[in-house]
Amino acid sequence: MIQTERVTTGIPGLDPILEGGYPKGRSILVTGDPGTGKTIFALQFLVEGLARGEKGIYVAADEGPADILEQGASLGWDLEKHIEQKELAILNAGTYLSSLSGAGKERQIDIYKAIGDLAGFVNRLEAKRLVLDPAGPFVLLRDTAMRIQDQTRLLIKLLRTSMPTTNILTSYGVPRTGERTLHGIEEYLVAGAIILEMIWKDGQLARSLVVEKMRCTDVKPAQHEFEIVKGRGVTLESLG
Ligand SMILES: Nc1ncnc2c1ncn2[C@@H]1O[C@H](COP(=O)(O)OP(=O)(O)OP(=O)(O)O)[C@@H](O)[C@H]1O
Ligand SMILES: [Mg+2]
Repeated sequence: MIQTERVTTGIPGLDPILEGGYPKGRSILVTGDPGTGKTIFALQFLVEGLARGEKGIYVAADEGPADILEQGASLGWDLEKHIEQKELAILNAGTYLSSLSGAGKERQIDIYKAIGDLAGFVNRLEAKRLVLDPAGPFVLLRDTAMRIQDQTRLLIKLLRTSMPTTNILTSYGVPRTGERTLHGIEEYLVAGAIILEMIWKDGQLARSLVVEKMRCTDVKPAQHEFEIVKGRGVTLESLG
């Protein structure tokens, strides 16, 4: 019988909730409003991989690689060391995507080329973990007639078929009811979706995590409180 292979999340307290981790080779969406912890959550997935000898690639869109290094350092993670050792690469999505487009008519780039090039990078580095933070730029490519939803479906499919990585895609919060926005990667297309949000608890704001879906995984519906702590990052385990 086929057994779902698991990839550890790097988040203390999350693996037991997910029968050991994310389904290997799939794309997991981490969604949430600004400041809810998406970047740290994604970074931690790579840091966990590095500790296990699994190389990683981080494609940053909103922030430059230097910002990501600084964010990591603030949590006690020496990412520069791993870059020097060629175990980690941080790419700037803007530079990366525009470098794929030529002049004039050639300016048009498509998702096949964007992901094809990324796959080349992944394979050269032999990366096992990939982060697109946020993934939006990959489905909002210029000059394309394809609907966002179809682009997203294609992105997930190409990630699955052209590289062996387990992927974290981040996106801004999508409303749980009503129209799904263009900025959100539709949750039904990915293998897993995790929502980070701020909630009010006993008159105070608290960070919360909900596993909205995880294919092949018995997830009990629950809201988990978490903290962001120096040296640990996102943790579901109480420090008390
Ligand atoms: N070194 C640190 N120690 C403790 N908490 C931190 C540290 N660095 C950041 N944080 C907390 O994490 C929050 C931001 O997390 P993060 O950047 O991962 O959010 P995000 O969801 O990616 O935001 P955005 O949508 O703006 O990119 C900060 O607002 C801060 O409260
Ligand atoms: Mg972020």
